[in-house]
Amino acid sequence: MNTPKRYLITSALPYANGLKHIGHLAGAYLPADIYTRYLKAQNREVVFVCGSDEHGTAIPIQAKKEGITAQAIIDKYHPIIEQNFRDLGIDFDIYHRTSAPIHHTTAQEFFTVLNDQGALEIKESEQYYDDEAKIFLADRFIKGTCPNCKYDNAFGDQCEKCGKSLSPEELINPVSTLSGKPPIKKLTKHWYLPLNKHEDFLKEWVLTQHKNDWRANVVGQVKSWIDMGLQPRAVTRDLDWGINVPVKDAAGKVLYVWFDAPIGYISATKQWALDNGKDWQPYWYDKETKLVHFIGKDNIVFHAMIFPIMLQLHGNILPDNVPSNEFMNLEGDKMSTSRGWSIEMDEYIKDWIKTSQGNESMADVLRYYLTAIAPETKDSEFTWKGFQDANNSELVSILGNYVNRTFVLMHKLCGGKVPALHHELIDDIDNQLIDDITNTKQKVTSLLEAYKFRDAQFEVIDLARKANQYMQKKEPWIVAKQINTNPQAQQLIDNCLHLCLQLTANLAILIHPFLPFTAKKMLHMMKVVDKMLEWKNAGNIQLLKVGYSLREPLLLFRKIEDEEINIQLEKLKMKSLAAKENKMQESTTTTNDEIKPTIVFDDFAKIDLRIGTIIQAEKVAKADKLLNLTVDLGTEKRTIVSGIAMHYTPEEVIGKQVTVVCNLAPRKMRCIESNGMILMAEDKTGKLYFVNPDNTIDAGSKVS
Ligand code: 2FM
Ligand code: ZN
Repeated sequence: MNTPKRYLITSALPYANGLKHIGHLAGAYLPADIYTRYLKAQNREVVFVCGSDEHGTAIPIQAKKEGITAQAIIDKYHPIIEQNFRDLGIDFDIYHRTSAPIHHTTAQEFFTVLNDQGALEIKESEQYYDDEAKIFLADRFIKGTCPNCKYDNAFGDQCEKCGKSLSPEELINPVSTLSGKPPIKKLTKHWYLPLNKHEDFLKEWVLTQHKNDWRANVVGQVKSWIDMGLQPRAVTRDLDWGINVPVKDAAGKVLYVWFDAPIGYISATKQWALDNGKDWQPYWYDKETKLVHFIGKDNIVFHAMIFPIMLQLHGNILPDNVPSNEFMNLEGDKMSTSRGWSIEMDEYIKDWIKTSQGNESMADVLRYYLTAIAPETKDSEFTWKGFQDANNSELVSILGNYVNRTFVLMHKLCGGKVPALHHELIDDIDNQLIDDITNTKQKVTSLLEAYKFRDAQFEVIDLARKANQYMQKKEPWIVAKQINTNPQAQQLIDNCLHLCLQLTANLAILIHPFLPFTAKKMLHMMKVVDKMLEWKNAGNIQLLKVGYSLREPLLLFRKIEDEEINIQLEKLKMKSLAAKENKMQESTTTTNDEIKPTIVFDDFAKIDLRIGTIIQAEKVAKADKLLNLTVDLGTEKRTIVSGIAMHYTPEEVIGKQVTVVCNLAPRKMRCIESNGMILMAEDKTGKLYFVNPDNTIDAGSKVS
């Protein structure tokens, strides 16, 4: 295939509604970054775009949870996510936002073009409506049981458990996430993209043209959607958060988030071009541009079917590939931030990179392990033990050890300079190593071109493994002992370390897309400039000049101790426990008119309820919802952590009498042991109130 004139690489725009976990990183960002770094090393013209997805119901829902505005939510999470990516070496050319005015106009223009050419259908239909909140229940404003896997917390647009795209009508026992009540149906008008009219195009383009060069999961999902029968899909919503539908008679309606978000790739390209004095148009109109969308499997339908239909109708180029990863599980369960079963990028950075003994190499350790277990063809599993093993027995023992040994021996036996290569002494073992370098470059190149990042990285480490074996066979430290008896001893040492150093330079080039921080460290040790990392230099065994003096070795990776892993495992358990308790608290405080099933008196009698007086209160650091309270119970004073910080300031609660569940098992929240629970009443708007006696009474008084 001819080399494309230019590349446009995109990674799925993450919702700016919270922190993103390492499963997201492994799915759509890390592989795209590896691919882009490789293309740039090839000196290809390439732009890598991403940004925050700031519309859709996910944003106002989080805003409600945190008790702040939707705008405040995106302004809070956008910069954190952007910085997290940077800290992990994800090197976008632009990290844009869909709240930017240029995106709003781009998305509106796109809609108008489609609408004006009659490509959209307008239909009135009955949709779910929350009669109490007076709002139509789009997407995540409605929950219910997934028809596919029976998960009972599936959203109206997608089941987070099995990844299936849904419409609210498909949910079993739907309820409004606003009022907790079953919705009613109400008539409303919307614009639809008739997917059914594009079936022939999809069959030809995906199921025929890309049958073999796209991943099986992508082709498979498209096929099963087509087999189920394509339906018109609404591209507008009744919502007050999003991009206004740019036609008359559409007051209160916005573009569906999945209509505007992928157009975010276009507006990000426009903004990048403006910032860099370039023309954005060839990236979206010139057939010689290779467009590649990196995504997770829950985004397949949108990137391999819906957005391409939109692009085609709008006159844009189509993606050349849509490399989609399956899911990465964590310690035997699905990764989920809301269930506390996750490792947030932010958390990893705080625990491993931005600590007193942490450094950027730890970003590469994560990148390495995530790529080594990349869920390219099936779901995979992150375990802390696997992470430790990958670091200790591959990065430390193979790559780090090899580079370190080469540098130490070169300083010890060759005066710290690149030794000469004595051609007359080159033997079969040397020639084999030289062949290994060239072969590895070829293998890595074709694997990267085929989006097989896991195998490509394996080949690079395998080269380091072979290099270690080479050194083991040559044993320059033993040859050094024969310096007075063997006249060729120094020349043999020179040859071995010359080749080992040239191989180190090659390793830096080949590992750079995967481990950019490590490659930079290696460049520093070799005293060479970034330009050496150009891909064309790989395979060259004369990269370092004879006689050039090199620096002392830097430790590329450090060993990870069992203790550090145990801390992470413990932390994960605590996080998931805290999330469970938060959920329980939420479910006991959400407005729900239905009375719970009957219990017998003995069940009730097990609960020890008493009146306490709050005598101290303070905010819990880094926990917007929590107050740390000291409660006087007459005979003792208790520490109780309570999720009321969105409703009361510490000053407001001091002196208040409250009802306390005294015999609830202690639990840790944000490292503070909470001994009991304060009862709260919640009104229909979600505001919380203390449950207290109508007169001040003795602290410790029993409630029954
Ligand atoms: O699934 C998600 O997180 C979406 N925000 C992805 C959007 S990708 C693109 F279309 F922008
Ligand atoms: Zn499901």
